[in-house]
Parts: sequence; C-alpha cells; structure tokens
Amino acid sequence: MSIVIDEIATLFHDKGNQAYLGEQVSIAEHMLQTAQAAERARASSALTVVALLHDFGHLVHVMADDSADHGVDTVHEQAGAEWLSRAFGPDVTEPIRLHVAAKRYLCAKYPTYLDVLSPASVHSLMLQGGPFSADNAAAFAALPHAAEAVQVRRWDDIGKVAGEPTPSFDDYRPLLESCLRPTHT
Ligand SMILES: [Fe+2]
Repeated sequence: MSIVIDEIATLFHDKGNQAYLGEQVSIAEHMLQTAQAAERARASSALTVVALLHDFGHLVHVMADDSADHGVDTVHEQAGAEWLSRAFGPDVTEPIRLHVAAKRYLCAKYPTYLDVLSPASVHSLMLQGGPFSADNAAAFAALPHAAEAVQVRRWDDIGKVAGEPTPSFDDYRPLLESCLRPTHT
C-alpha cells in the first residue's frame, strides 16, 4: 500500500465531490468517466492514470473554487502536474501539464472542435488564452507528450455525462501502484 496513493484517494474523496465548473458531474465523476473512456480505448496504463488524474489540480490548487466565475484561471494543470510529480514520472505528469494547451491546440487545428466543447469548457478556454496561433500550435505539437495530451483531451470531453456508472477510485489503485516512480516520496 502506498502512502501517496492514500493521499490522492483522500483528496479525491474529500474534495472531488465539488461541482465541476458548471458541468453536470462532480470533478471526481468527471475524472472517473475520463479514465473509463481511456480504458475503453485500450490506452496504456500510464495514459489511463493521466485520464484518471488529469484534473487533480482542481483538488490541490490554492485559489478560490469559483475563480472561473470571476474570470480567473487557476492554472490547475500546473498545480496537478507539480503535486503528482512526487509520485509519477513525466509519462504521467507531462500530459497532465499539457492537457489545457491541448485544448488550445485542438481549437486552432480543428475549428469544429469548438462545437464539441461544453459551454463551461468554452468559458475556461477564454480564461486560458483562447485557441493557439498557428505558430503556437506548431510549437505545442513538437513538445514531448503533446500527442498523449491531445488523446486525453478527447476522453476528457466525453467524460461529462450525468449519472454515467463508472468503476470507483479504489478500483484503479492497482493501476496507480503500477505506474509509481520507483523512488516516489
Ligand atoms: Fe477534464
């Protein structure tokens, strides 16, 4: 049993039931649905963990939970990646760090992608800087782990269905354990 996974579980259970920025699901439900979409797509273990924890930053950032309502971006992708870097390597943390940039990339590359986004996600997109310019999109695509971040983004966008049954967080513990860095703290 890993202490850090117990910590993640505690945050998931204690703070994950908060509303997810205007969506019909809680943050925990959203992350579990995103992980389930990754599993259905037969994603790798690391990428399934990315899907499960991609919005973990919403549980650990130190800004007001209604920041988006006040036009403030919490930069949750950074907060989540930083916190999780004590437990996981870049195959997990970097797609998490890039998953907001992946949304800006997809909007620039595929204009119809905007139609897929929920109203709350369109709102946060504007706080996050809006679609990338062509140059920024090309720079993003060249980053390590950009492709994985884009993949998770697709599952992220469909993981917002009210009442969708999913496995529980504890069902994913063996998977999380298998992806820990050998020297995690
Ligand atoms: Fe998400």
